[in-house]
Amino acid sequence: MSLIALPAHRIFNNSLNPFITFNFYIFAAMANNGQKSEENIQLKNIIAHAKEYGFVYPSSEIYDGLQAVYDYGPYGVELKNNLKEVWWQTMTKLHENVVGIDAAIFMHPLTWKASGHVDSFNDPMIDNKDSKKRYRADVLIEDRVAEYQVNGNKEKADSLIKEFVTLMEVEDMNGVKELIVREQIVCPFTVTCIMTDVRPLNLMFSTQIGSVADDADEIYLRPETAQGIFVNFLNVQKTARMKVPFGIAQIGKAFRNEIVARQFIFRMREFEQMEMQFFIRPGDEMSWYEQWKQLRLNWHKALGIPADKLRFHNHDKLAHYANAAVDIEYEFPFGFKEVEGIHSRTDFDLGNHQKLSRKKMQYFDPELGKNYVPFVVETSAGADRIFLMLLSQAYTEEEVGEGENKKMRTFLKLHPSLAPVKAAIFPLVKKDGLPEVGRKIFDELKYDFNLVYEEAQSIGKRYTRQDLIGTPSCIAVDYQTLEDETVTIRERDSMAQERVKISALRDIIGKKVSLGNILKEVL
Ligand code: GAP
Repeated sequence: MSLIALPAHRIFNNSLNPFITFNFYIFAAMANNGQKSEENIQLKNIIAHAKEYGFVYPSSEIYDGLQAVYDYGPYGVELKNNLKEVWWQTMTKLHENVVGIDAAIFMHPLTWKASGHVDSFNDPMIDNKDSKKRYRADVLIEDRVAEYQVNGNKEKADSLIKEFVTLMEVEDMNGVKELIVREQIVCPFTVTCIMTDVRPLNLMFSTQIGSVADDADEIYLRPETAQGIFVNFLNVQKTARMKVPFGIAQIGKAFRNEIVARQFIFRMREFEQMEMQFFIRPGDEMSWYEQWKQLRLNWHKALGIPADKLRFHNHDKLAHYANAAVDIEYEFPFGFKEVEGIHSRTDFDLGNHQKLSRKKMQYFDPELGKNYVPFVVETSAGADRIFLMLLSQAYTEEEVGEGENKKMRTFLKLHPSLAPVKAAIFPLVKKDGLPEVGRKIFDELKYDFNLVYEEAQSIGKRYTRQDLIGTPSCIAVDYQTLEDETVTIRERDSMAQERVKISALRDIIGKKVSLGNILKEVL
């Protein structure tokens, strides 16, 4: 249970605008779990594994990287593509009333006025006057809470959280500064506590559009994909002849100037969202909200995540436009954290776009015989966070062998349908016609599956390499293959080997890695 019952991603002020951001929930989760060193070791192992085996690299690493920005490597991009594909298919294939779009990252600046992001999509910032270093006020407090916890001072930790949350709820920035001073939180560079006032910093990245500097308009990199869906609501409804209730799904990049980078790809400045806005009759929102909650939880379980590693976290303090909001959380090595939000957003966004654009955002409901601005239930998932969830869940270290041969085996227990490489083909030796047979199998199957063909090094080492990237099946071509056209298939998790006919391979692999295996579990 969290101590702090506030929205996961935002603290909303009382003005029209809902988006003062603040990551209370991270804070709350830390406050409850603490950051135990073994958990940090587990996260460190996962990060190191991701880098070493081609999943995720720090961005522009040769220049020492760019904080909170990451690149996906050869296996990372395959895994992420599979993840996005299964989300896309879940939305658009399983639900005949959900269609997709791909809106531009740049949008008219008024979009962000209407959505509330221009005025209040903020984090509370504070600078040390001596070092000129900038900090997020919430993170400074968060670190102090963690210190109290590590030192076993739970009472102090709890009361600091409480005090801080109260101040943030009433947006008392002076109070937050006083708290930082009272706690004597110092800048690590100067070891002084000479701080500026706490002030909000907008998280949107801006740039200029236009060829002449004087004429250029300031525009923003979208901080959420959702607005591309809202502004296209009528285009989609009319051109795809959709009837309420219907949904619009989109996968795309979003950008937030997160000041404090933490926990690897959990909090990035450039990340990917998989969002679906579901347009419904006003008044129907609670039943749709409940349905989408369950469907989305099922989806995460269908990816192979055990039920006890997932939970709902209700937002107890709701934004004024929302009448229900919940996070789906996964138990990362650093505690339960949000991977997806389900929000009942009323007619807030469409209503504001209607006001600002002076274009009707209404739907004529033939059954009711009247016009209305639809209400919206959104499901908003982060592709990168779910990627990290998959890696965290899949990363397995186990002892194998007996006696002197005992050793640790590391492998990724990824759902076969999501694995970057579906099968690897290995001739036992690099001679006697075995490579030719291996190549032939590869050439026949490469149209259906992402495969690897390898003939270098011992077969044991080749198996290990595939285990490390989560390849579900390894196919070995040996001397018996030349006699009876059979090969062995080695299963990743059990390491069990089975002899099968070459002609059966397409069917065996296909059954194992079909995305349909996941889709069937969702509904
Ligand atoms: N349209 C609603 C919306 O954007 P959000 O809770 O701010 O809601 C939704 O974001 C999801 O996007 C989160 O559950 C998370 O998975 C992902 N997300 C948000 N900020 C992120 C960041 N800085 N880095 C990675 N993923 C992020």
